[in-house]
Amino acid sequence: MKHWFSDLRAFQRDPLDFMVTRGTASASSLERVHLGPTPVWLVTDPAMVKPVLKAPEHEIDKGRLVYKLRKVLGVSSLSLSGEAHRQRRALLHTTFAKGAANQYVPEMTAVICRLIGKLMREPSFDAHAITARLSLRLVSLTMFGKDVLSEEDEEIIVQAVDQVEDDLADEMFSVMPLMPWTRRRRDQKRAEACAAMGEVVKRVRQRAPSTSVVHALESLGLTDDEVRDEVLTMILAGYHTTGNAAAWLLYFLATVPGLSGAIAAEAEDLADASGIIPASRLAAGRTSLAAVKETLRLYPSAHWFARDAKADIQLGDSKLRRGDAILIPPWHFHRSTRFWNEPEQFRLDRDFGTPAFLPFGAGPRVCVGMGLAMLELQLIALEFSAATELRVLSSVPAADPKPSITLLPPPIEMSVAARLGRHAGLGHAHVENGR
Ligand code: HEM
Repeated sequence: MKHWFSDLRAFQRDPLDFMVTRGTASASSLERVHLGPTPVWLVTDPAMVKPVLKAPEHEIDKGRLVYKLRKVLGVSSLSLSGEAHRQRRALLHTTFAKGAANQYVPEMTAVICRLIGKLMREPSFDAHAITARLSLRLVSLTMFGKDVLSEEDEEIIVQAVDQVEDDLADEMFSVMPLMPWTRRRRDQKRAEACAAMGEVVKRVRQRAPSTSVVHALESLGLTDDEVRDEVLTMILAGYHTTGNAAAWLLYFLATVPGLSGAIAAEAEDLADASGIIPASRLAAGRTSLAAVKETLRLYPSAHWFARDAKADIQLGDSKLRRGDAILIPPWHFHRSTRFWNEPEQFRLDRDFGTPAFLPFGAGPRVCVGMGLAMLELQLIALEFSAATELRVLSSVPAADPKPSITLLPPPIEMSVAARLGRHAGLGHAHVENGR
């Protein structure tokens, strides 16, 4: 019989390696790991993902890790279950399906190109520092509409979200309990940041267009605080996740031979006569889409996520007890030699239709912002490739990512120069036209 904590050391030392090593070696589709008094089951076989994620909520549902979110984030679609969850999700889904994100492609392109223009005047930059801000701007566009947030508002949101994210990491990962006065100070700081953000959301709601997500949420008759918590959740869920992936995307554009040239050529094919890429043609951008998917395979921002057993259940050959935790690890699925040839290599010729590709989850709680994230990342790939040649100035290969709430990229120092040669020019037109 193993000790309750017998795997904790290895997990804390290197959670990413732990997931792949234990997952690959396991003979069962669920591997029991010992990280504390609560039994934890690591899903090791992608075929087991559907039975877990599609199980009825009275058997398997979001659990203690997500309830910790409530303390920080309030109640929102991420932590709700049952009818309330289905209602909000259906609304968000319909809003996105109606093109809430696609309608902003010209503005998103302008934001990206304005950034490229700025970076060209700088000797170097840290990839994640700029992609995190960029993804916040892009997700805010969809939430609030064009030109609704001032730079000051944006700063207030960044501070609230960063504060919430730090607190979340503490809630989830700190082994030692916080001193009561430290916790009080922290809670107060967060409450102030969230209140300031609530004021911003309330103010900009009045100006948000009818197609924006914040406007859609109003139709559910939510209170001001509920709308604020939902918006904070959407921004939190969409900001670092997309920003992390975008940093790696820039890294691959700079370091994979021929990649950015091929995507620059694709951008030229997709663009209309005025040099703009219309939303309706993005689905034909096969190279840029494959590059985004391969980036998400190698660096899935949600490297794991969790559920709890809500009843005693049989899953495969394992018997789970009510209260057991279940870890679903995209990092393991994406990196194991059991599911991919040369998993460490960046390759565009992969089959991303396999259940072992799981960057956005699956089932009734699959990422509601998946379309928006793919759109942002594809536009970043196309516009950066069309306009620039990227270089990595720090070491290649880059250091390992840091597993936190999301999988954070290491510092990657980069520079951009204007693209010369056959595919040059398209991006410049955008850069010059950028706001
Ligand atoms: C590359 C970027 C992204 C990645 C890798 C990602 C990944 C994920 C994953 C794996 C889940 C499922 C978690 C679970 O089942 O427990 C999820 C859920 C969610 N995501 Fe994303 N996400 C990304 C971007 C976004 C964006 C841009 C938004 C919003 C604008 C967003 C909003 C949400 C929300 C609200 C949920 C909860 C859905 C529910 O429980 O019904 N995500 N995301």
